[in-house]
Amino acid sequence: MRHLIEITDLTTGELDQLLSLAEDMRSRPDDYRESQRGRILATLFFEPSTRTRLSFESAMLSMGGGVLGFASADSSSTAKGESLQDTIRTVSCYCDVIAMRHPKEGAPLAAVQKATVPVINAGDGGHNHPTQTLTDLMTIRREKGRLDSLTVGLCDDLKFGRTVHSLIAAMSRYPGVRFVLISPPELRLPAYLTQALDDRGIEWASLERMEDALPTLDILYMTRVQRERFFNEADYVRLKDTYVLTPEKMALASPDLRVLHPLPRVNEISPRVDDDPRAVYFDQVRNGRYVRMALITKLLEVGA
Ligand code: NCD
Repeated sequence: MRHLIEITDLTTGELDQLLSLAEDMRSRPDDYRESQRGRILATLFFEPSTRTRLSFESAMLSMGGGVLGFASADSSSTAKGESLQDTIRTVSCYCDVIAMRHPKEGAPLAAVQKATVPVINAGDGGHNHPTQTLTDLMTIRREKGRLDSLTVGLCDDLKFGRTVHSLIAAMSRYPGVRFVLISPPELRLPAYLTQALDDRGIEWASLERMEDALPTLDILYMTRVQRERFFNEADYVRLKDTYVLTPEKMALASPDLRVLHPLPRVNEISPRVDDDPRAVYFDQVRNGRYVRMALITKLLEVGA
């Protein structure tokens, strides 16, 4: 049985296959309409979500499968004191695959020990978010035609942003990718991740001003400051509006730049940027449904 806890659980060969399947699903959705008939996905969300949970559900429903689950810890027996492992053991009796989001780093790994069906990490604290990375990779591949030889800028909360951590882990496996890390000093990428880049000889630079980076980038990956991970509200308030992407700043960038954002956005991208053809974050949302269809299909194939 296969799970998806970290993006590197998939080889680059498997990733490429999965993205190709997602492309096929996007172009011929009718051919997959009944492909998971009789199968059930459980979405266990111990933390808020709009896109991730609904795209998982939409993915399973688009393939004729069924969905069940909960959207907050308070509406499950967690509120009565049930352990995560007992919840997972229970839910495994009702479904064929589980997608879970949890505020604690490592919770999905603990879940795997009691699960009798595949488990997908839909975000664990400030750690990882591999299915957002699938969405990001599909978007970059569609826009650029490749995943190698790209200069990727990641901007804002690189410390707590789990989508950033998983995207770097995935993209650093493709040759010729360099990273430009744009953040205030307090929100820099954790040292274990920059160390991993150094160990593998991958080129990266760290900057504070987005204006300095913009002209050099192929991809700009914006993120929100992760308020829920801060220990102190005053720090959040001080840092939350450090970066705001505007049409004036976009004028500094290449006509071939693409701007991604996992969403939700708060203030970091002005809505005035939305009509710029280089802003692809809403198409990125659309891709989220097809990569999750592909992932569910692959995990259930192995499990069958
Ligand atoms: C992200 C997350 O939950 O980490 N959202 C998402 O899944 N699309 C990013 C965020 O919440 O800032």
